[in-house]
Amino acid sequence: MSRPVSRISINTGGGDAPGLNAVIYSVVNSASRLGWKVLGIREGFDGLVYPERYPDGGVMELTPEKVKNIPHLGGTMLGTTNRGNPFRALVDGKEVDLSDRVMEGFRRHQIDAHVAVGGDGSLTIALQLHRKGLRVVGVPKTIDNDLESTTLTFGFASAVSFATECIDRLHMTAQAHRRILVVEVMGRNVGWIALYAGIAGQADAILIPEVPYDLSKVAGHLRRATEGERQHAIVVVAEGAKPAGGEATVKSREPGRVERLGGIGESVAKDLERLTGRETRAVVLGHLLRGGSPVAQDRILGLAFGAGAIQALQKGLDGVMVALNPPRLEFVPLADAVVRQRPVPLEGEAVIAARTLDICFGD
Ligand code: F6P
Repeated sequence: MSRPVSRISINTGGGDAPGLNAVIYSVVNSASRLGWKVLGIREGFDGLVYPERYPDGGVMELTPEKVKNIPHLGGTMLGTTNRGNPFRALVDGKEVDLSDRVMEGFRRHQIDAHVAVGGDGSLTIALQLHRKGLRVVGVPKTIDNDLESTTLTFGFASAVSFATECIDRLHMTAQAHRRILVVEVMGRNVGWIALYAGIAGQADAILIPEVPYDLSKVAGHLRRATEGERQHAIVVVAEGAKPAGGEATVKSREPGRVERLGGIGESVAKDLERLTGRETRAVVLGHLLRGGSPVAQDRILGLAFGAGAIQALQKGLDGVMVALNPPRLEFVPLADAVVRQRPVPLEGEAVIAARTLDICFGD
């Protein structure tokens, strides 16, 4: 028999994604209907590791009244960090394990169970804390849509929708100047955002990490595509895309966090200009894809995931992640959910549709 729950906490970790506030709203309202109290931990687990940094001690009580106007807002009312791994905290330039402080914080606040909202990095931390005795349910979050075990994460639809709107705009200026425009989008090691936005925005070429590219093939395709009346082209490139036999472009490496990708758009644009002889410019959409209000689908997914997390705790589940397996929400072991990232399936309907529409992948 699992212990009864009456006091829970929630945190948001890693890069923000539109829909986080919808999850918080849903967790608070679903829990309070059961008579449970909810505490919000600030900025990943930093609110527990460094309580002295926060005027409210790093933890705030969340009531339905406090969260009533947030589900439609981007960002996260709790704040987040992707430098917040307590198992690898940086103190005076050295990595140290401060996870006991987190566990002590949970005890101090008499928290019975925790809802961890995050991507693979944050959910791995949640799993490690679970192994130290924390009762935890994970909620998958990321614009990258790269989590194994759930067919969709919230944030992805909003990112795709905004990227598509940008591509629509870029078509117009590219057409006016007869240019090639290269649009770099986030997505880390997978190409979901590039693929979906590229198809929706009628790109001529889409470069994704799952298909190492040969730029001479892309250039040949663009030359043919701009031979007739249409004199412009759009290339969508995922930040993690790599040439055949090459590596992804890393922008920076810092201790205590995963490497930052970025810069591929500019180098692809330079090479395509040389190979095609056509003026080519690069645009990096970057963090614009994470900001802004969640589209309806992400709000609904966030609300459903939040309610699902409370259902999991009610059922007495522990060490699981809420996952979408349409039409149902399922609870999968956290340990299975964070093993590997979910790449775009090359035999999937989106890649097949793109190829049928003569969109070039550079292979
Ligand atoms: O995982 C979400 C994400 O936006 C990735 O697409 C991107 O590579 C990374 O976070 C950027 O992180 P940061 O905001 O720390 O640069």
